[in-house]
Amino acid sequence: MTKVAAITGSAGGLGAAMAKKLAADGFTVAVIDVKDGGETVAAIETAGGKAQFFACDLTDPKAVAALGASVTATLGGADVLVNNAGRYDNHSFDELTYEHWRETMALNLDGMFLACKAFAPHMRKQGWGRIINIASNSTFLAPPGMAQYIASKSGAIGLARALASEFGPDGVTVNAVAPGPVVTDQLKLAYARDFAGGDASGFEDFMTMMAQNQSVKRYATPDDVTGLIAFLASDASSMITGQTIVCDGGWARV
Ligand SMILES: NC(=O)c1ccc[n+]([C@@H]2O[C@H](COP(=O)([O-])OP(=O)(O)OC[C@H]3O[C@@H](n4cnc5c(N)ncnc54)[C@H](O)[C@@H]3O)[C@@H](O)[C@H]2O)c1
Repeated sequence: MTKVAAITGSAGGLGAAMAKKLAADGFTVAVIDVKDGGETVAAIETAGGKAQFFACDLTDPKAVAALGASVTATLGGADVLVNNAGRYDNHSFDELTYEHWRETMALNLDGMFLACKAFAPHMRKQGWGRIINIASNSTFLAPPGMAQYIASKSGAIGLARALASEFGPDGVTVNAVAPGPVVTDQLKLAYARDFAGGDASGFEDFMTMMAQNQSVKRYATPDDVTGLIAFLASDASSMITGQTIVCDGGWARV
């Protein structure tokens, strides 16, 4: 039977690329986003795949519970969950407010918890499942100005480690993937807003400069991450759980 992959934040960026890759690999994809995911669904259908859009604000516990029920009712539940939706911005600790800290945690970490609550019971009951938390190499590099982001993504890694212990006996693996900088709209916006006075024209040069810290000296695009996601979502990864795999061209070594 066709497996179902639920991917949060898949209207654009990394999530959309993951959705297209898993659809190409034969999954029916639940495209989940607070923004309209119609473009991702259309791209998948044009390529001959199957996808359905589910509107959901991952920071709203009731909405995420309803999302789980809706995916179960229409697609029979999810076999794979990619916890990808996340937000990033740059603030020194002195500038960081509690409200901002909470906004980041609400999406980047609470949203993962809520999605696991919504989708894991079906996986555990059927004895097969894959959960992939999208973290970040910033946990290992720890640059300044990212306390809320690094703390949330370190939480994503901790959650994967903890749930791997609880879900492993039921055939469900839980891993974290930690990308380095990847060209997406979010990163371009963050670059312009936080480093370039609103001007995004130097973004490509900035990415090329950052890539010099890597062993692979070119910047990454979303398609550089999708092969790893496809592997972790497959039967071939069945003995890998509780792990964090860094996907950053060899910048951070863990
Ligand atoms: N781009 C990078 O360089 C990079 C590096 C490391 C990790 N990451 C992580 O990868 C993930 C994807 O990042 P991206 O760069 O593709 O970002 P993006 O902004 O392009 O995509 C994120 C998606 O999440 C959705 N989203 C935002 N708030 C939501 C909410 N409340 N409910 C549901 N959906 C919501 C957005 O609408 C968007 O479609 C994030 O978790 C990010 O932290 C990105």
